[in-house]
Amino acid sequence: MNTDLHPAVMGWYATHARDLPWRSPDASAWSVLVSEIMLQQTPVVRVEPAWRAWLQRWPTPADLAAATPAQVLRAWDRLGYPRRALRLREAAIAITERHGGQVPSDEEDLLALPGIGSYTAAAVAAFAFRRRSVVLDTNVRRVLGRLVHGTALPPPSPRRAETATALDLLPADPETSARWNVAVMELGALVCTARAPRCADCPVAAQCRWRAAGYPPDEHAARRR
Ligand code: ADE
Repeated sequence: MNTDLHPAVMGWYATHARDLPWRSPDASAWSVLVSEIMLQQTPVVRVEPAWRAWLQRWPTPADLAAATPAQVLRAWDRLGYPRRALRLREAAIAITERHGGQVPSDEEDLLALPGIGSYTAAAVAAFAFRRRSVVLDTNVRRVLGRLVHGTALPPPSPRRAETATALDLLPADPETSARWNVAVMELGALVCTARAPRCADCPVAAQCRWRAAGYPPDEHAARRR
């Protein structure tokens, strides 16, 4: 495992991370699951108030399971992609029926819930249960692609090599690995951005293959348009 990057990225995260409520040690697994569904297609600034209101109204999966589809759609309101609200309600029903109302901690059980894909299952296992899982969202994929593979942007869908790279870099200790996942995600969101990366502020710029190679352009650009 390449461990050179860990102290720099973790140190950067300790001082630069946004204080987001779903990252609090007190956040329930359910609240983490709700955050990940909301954050899939909606920016953090819009998610934060909606997430607070949602959890005040439906603090547990059983509470949401008892709501009607019309109620959840109305509460979802301006977050967009409202099918997510219906899927979240279905997941709440499945959690209530299959898991006694407790969000499961196993990635496999999470993946079997309605509307939960591989990213969300890995994220909930890591962030809610401090499990050692490979969390590959677009931010993480872009950061690791640049750092390790020297590519401007990752391919449109994850490749096996990306999972191998992420696994190779994942700290062995589960607690540390959960923090590493969110630290890399945050680095992608705040510094190693898609369009205007702030390499002067990057804690691992000196180790970055993309930077060392002179920032070659995106090889998938034609397919993205
Ligand atoms: N923290 C944990 N998961 C997150 C996400 N998907 N987006 C932003 N911050 C997060």
